[in-house]
Amino acid sequence: MLTAKLNRARIAHLPTPIEPMDRLSAHLGGPRLLVKRDDETGLATGGNKARKLEFLVGQALADNADVLVTGGAPQSNHARQTAAAAARFGLGAVLVLRGQKPATCTGNLLLNMLLGAEIRWAGERDLDQSIDQAADELRHAGRRPAVVPYGGSNMLGAAGYVAAMEELVEQQAHSKLAIDVIVFASSSGGTQAGLMVGAKQCGFAGRVLGISVDKPAGALATRVATLANETAGFLELPWAFAPADIDVNDHYLGGGYAVIGEAEREAINLFARIEGLLLDPVYTGRAAAGLIDLVRRGDLAGETVLFWHTGGTAGLFGFGEQVLTRW
Ligand SMILES: Cc1ncc(COP(=O)(O)O)c(C=O)c1O
Repeated sequence: MLTAKLNRARIAHLPTPIEPMDRLSAHLGGPRLLVKRDDETGLATGGNKARKLEFLVGQALADNADVLVTGGAPQSNHARQTAAAAARFGLGAVLVLRGQKPATCTGNLLLNMLLGAEIRWAGERDLDQSIDQAADELRHAGRRPAVVPYGGSNMLGAAGYVAAMEELVEQQAHSKLAIDVIVFASSSGGTQAGLMVGAKQCGFAGRVLGISVDKPAGALATRVATLANETAGFLELPWAFAPADIDVNDHYLGGGYAVIGEAEREAINLFARIEGLLLDPVYTGRAAAGLIDLVRRGDLAGETVLFWHTGGTAGLFGFGEQVLTRW
């Protein structure tokens, strides 16, 4: 195992299943479609952060931390899973969230409160600085904070997706699958960076196609390549990546981060009605909208395509009726 030397807190329900999406495939008249169910990783309704947090929390425990500090958008899935991991291991959780406290407490925010997290509102202040400031204040108060970066995307977090690619390659071998393309939502880059390092090391020959949720392709590819290089170095693997090696599609940015448009709404409703699968409005809904469009354009014809469902289900409840096509 590539990550055997790292401190690891066993949190996630692994391996996550791979399931066929034959009805969606038939509906779209498209290629063979599969889904990898990282929405079922556990940790307060699942998602990709559970894999990252295994290593982030593993290190925090090894460092004798007593509180996890992280941040994100008000409906951050990462913040919610970090709060759940903290509760699970008897640590405190301080979440620094962008903007002002909203009038209602829904979706991930509601779960954060139930999970016992302390929420601090960053207003218009820079999020990274606000996270560091919160950690400083905790230190001054005699606490031992571990800062978990935005999105859980550093080398430790990305290691979770190196291990995930190992898991996928093993599943492929057992089930005699031959996956040509993996499609998923990419934002802070840790998921894609880990998958890239894992793919290189495990000899996965297919495409690893990140659908950008919030960044131009160039910026995201640069970020993923940098993080993949750091992660490879950290794991003592010989691989190096340039931005040109990173497969990113930024055609589905729509109205911007967390703005639900027709494409996301259609994808969310289609996956729900045809496959009984719940997507989230910000990440997997957008990535699925990209997948549907690529299928309709014929760009994935003849391929076996794995949609890596990275979770976010709780976020659905933070957007209310905006996700509906009828009411
Ligand atoms: C549900 C979901 N999918 C995908 C992502 C993107 O993963 P990454 O930040 O590792 O690129 C996130 C990040 O917050 C997420 O919450």
